[in-house]
Amino acid sequence: MTDSRLAIVVLAAGQGTRMKSSRPKVLHELAGVPLLGHVLATARELSAAHVVTVVRHERDLVAAAVEEFLPEAVVVDQDDIPGTGRAVQVAVDALPADFDGDVVVVSGDVPLLDAATLSGLLEAHRRATAAATLLSAIVDDATGYGRVVRDADGSLSRIVEHRDASDEERAITEINSGTYVFTVSALRSRLPRLGADNDQGELYLTDVVGMLRGDGEPVEAVPVGDAWVVEGINDRVQLSRAAARLNAMIVRGWQLAGVTVHDPNSTRIDLRATLAEDVELLPNTHIAGATTVARGAKIGPDTTLVDCEVGEDAVVKRTDATLAVIGANATVGPFAYLRPGTELGEGGKIGTYVETKNAKIGAGAKVPHLSYIGDATIGEGTNIGAGGITANYDGVNKHPTTIGAHVHTGVHNAFVAPVTIGDGATIGAGAVVRKDVPPNALALSVAPQRNVEDWAARKQH
Ligand code: UD1
Ligand code: CA
Repeated sequence: MTDSRLAIVVLAAGQGTRMKSSRPKVLHELAGVPLLGHVLATARELSAAHVVTVVRHERDLVAAAVEEFLPEAVVVDQDDIPGTGRAVQVAVDALPADFDGDVVVVSGDVPLLDAATLSGLLEAHRRATAAATLLSAIVDDATGYGRVVRDADGSLSRIVEHRDASDEERAITEINSGTYVFTVSALRSRLPRLGADNDQGELYLTDVVGMLRGDGEPVEAVPVGDAWVVEGINDRVQLSRAAARLNAMIVRGWQLAGVTVHDPNSTRIDLRATLAEDVELLPNTHIAGATTVARGAKIGPDTTLVDCEVGEDAVVKRTDATLAVIGANATVGPFAYLRPGTELGEGGKIGTYVETKNAKIGAGAKVPHLSYIGDATIGEGTNIGAGGITANYDGVNKHPTTIGAHVHTGVHNAFVAPVTIGDGATIGAGAVVRKDVPPNALALSVAPQRNVEDWAARKQH
């Protein structure tokens, strides 16, 4: 049920300078989903009446990600006044004037924050009828974070940014996670009063906390149990660390759901992948994108599947596949390259050193060795001899090859497209097939062999 008294503001306008990247920081990926996608998924779980995402740097790219992951979120543009305080101000201005509830503020670069932690924070805030409640964390290395400054009695006094902090303040290990709940009235009254008297010359949202406290308003900092939940991603070291942590959780989840993972450390499973019971993953395997793997399938070692669909009991070894459908009981690899549009039927085979693209290979059909099959349809039960190649490209256009059912092609055939081979046909070894072959015919195109008798002896003179 929608919480009509709740708004969520997602901050995603910053450049992410420390990533040193042409891609906006919040679009760097963790388990196949951009950082911002993780945060928006968490935001969705809170069923807020309003979700506002603030953009600026590469705004079109970031706005497109908002549209993909939470289309109902409103996108607002931050102007050229910098800082998290300004970002929240433009977001609050975009809320309906009569909105009178709580505003949860999250950063687009804190991807592991989960909805339970956020709901807990909101509950604590409402229970205490606080003006502001922030999520803090006790960390080993607080470098870069804002520090939570408490009074002698332990009550929250203010937040000081690392770069503005004294040595004494830098020794504080309780950090501001950048996640907060404010009453909207606290924001509406204090944000316009922010100044930029700090090392970065920015409007800091964090200063609102000290301001409220100075005015005698109730403010609290609630430490989170597991500090890694609030780890912010500012550089690529933190990105890989968070990726490893998330992957370990995902792998464990699938193990508990009945998937055998031989080597969790070298296995990566993206967030959107789904695996059935009794799937087996061998070392160095990456199940990427929205791949689905059905019961009993065995994947790996050394395999990457991106947005693929794998049927029951299929075996896929040392393979790189994208947007491919692999039927039940089919076998693929070792050393196969399946490009988009590959569909392998039930019990079919794509073997060793085989590349396929936009190829429909029927049930029980086999392409076992050293082939390129592109823009082709192969009927059921057909066997493609070793080295069969579809010549689909004339230098300007791509053309289709259609091979019927129960065809036997020879080794080293070239199929010069467009060309059609009828059901039950047989092709001789080495043939270059330029003309259609009728059903059940034998096609030969190689000149008859001529033997020169005693050639070896004659050559010596
Ligand atoms: C911020 C907090 C710091 C906290 C840390 C936690 C402030 C001043 N500091 O610092 O106390 O410990 O997060 O991770 O808030 N953003 C905008 N507009 C801007 C600037 C930033 O939308 O003008 C967004 C960024 O895209 C990012 C988030 O706000 O998603 C945080 O910005 P960032 O520059 O990473 O702040 P930190 O220095 O990490
Ligand atoms: Ca940050």
